[in-house]
Order: sequence, then structure tokens, then C-alpha cells
Amino acid sequence: MALALSATAETSAVAYPRALMSGEQVYQSVCAICHGSGAVGAPSVRDRQAWQKLATEGPDELWGTALAGLRRMPPMGGEPALHDIEVARAVNYMVALAGASLPEPTATAVKAARAGGEKRAKERIRESRAARK
Ligand code: HEC
Repeated sequence: MALALSATAETSAVAYPRALMSGEQVYQSVCAICHGSGAVGAPSVRDRQAWQKLATEGPDELWGTALAGLRRMPPMGGEPALHDIEVARAVNYMVALAGASLPEPTATAVKAARAGGEKRAKERIRESRAARK
């Protein structure tokens, strides 16, 4: 995984151990394998309508789901070496390709989104276990 690509300057006050990747860089190196084509049922970036609809769910929902995973969407796209804010940037990049936009992620906003996404993931596990009687 080419995580050592040239990266964009960090803009928030949080100190990161390495320069952060842009949303486009994360998308190309991690997310495109599924979201470029629609593999395994991922919403393809070519499906602008699907991403416009997803964008209406808002940043908390989308960032949280990308961080915590959903069905065949692996947590963090299957690349835990990413920083949470990089995953959020990649979400924003895919939303932007569809002509919509989400606010620029901050460390605080992304932390809250992760907590929400993990809570929803736990609830889904509980529900599917209860249904598996
Ligand atoms: C292994 C394939 C795979 C990779 C890699 C992957 N995704 Fe996904 N993604 C999926 C699938 C499948 C879904 C649809 C999940 C569902 O609704 O069941 C999805 C859905 C999503 C959604 C919509 C969530 C929602 O609320 O419906 C977002 C946002 C997302 N992915 C972001 C990302 C980001 C950002 C990356 C890269 C860091 C990434 N994905 C990498 C397979 C992948």
C-alpha cells in the first residue's frame, strides 16, 4: 500500500506523526478498488445520484460508517494505517466527485463521527444476533 505518497500540509491544530494524505490520494490508494467499479456492492463513484443521496445523510453518518464499517464495507476501507481524518477526506472526495459537498473534517468532528459509527455497528451486531434464533 503506497501510503508514503506526497501528502498535503496539515491544517488542524492536532500534531500527526506524518503528513496527511489528501482525500484524492486516499481514494486512489485504498477506496478505488471497490468504489471505482462498484465491486462487492460498493456505491461506485460513477453513480453520481447514489453519492448525492448519500451526501444528504451528512458527515457524521458517512464518516462514521466509513470508519466503523458496514456489511461488506470494511472499517477504514481495510487500511487501519490511515488516520481517521484521512478516511473522512476520502469520503468528502467521493462526495465532491458527485458534485455535492460535506464540511472539511476536523479532528474533533471525526472523533465524534467514529463514536457514532461504532455505536451503530454494535447495534447492528446485536440485532442480527437476536434475529438468528
Ligand atoms: C473492500 C471494498 C471496499 C473498500 C476498499 C472501501 N469500501 Fe466503502 N463501501 C463498500 C461497500 C460494499 C459499501 C456498501 C455498504 C452497504 O451499504 O452494505 C460501501 C459504502 C461506503 C460508504 C457509504 C456508507 C453508507 O452510509 O451507506 C462510504 C461513505 C464509504 N464506503 C467510504 C469508503 C472510503 C472512504 C473508503 C476508503 C478509505 C472505502 N469506502 C473503501 C466497500 C468498500
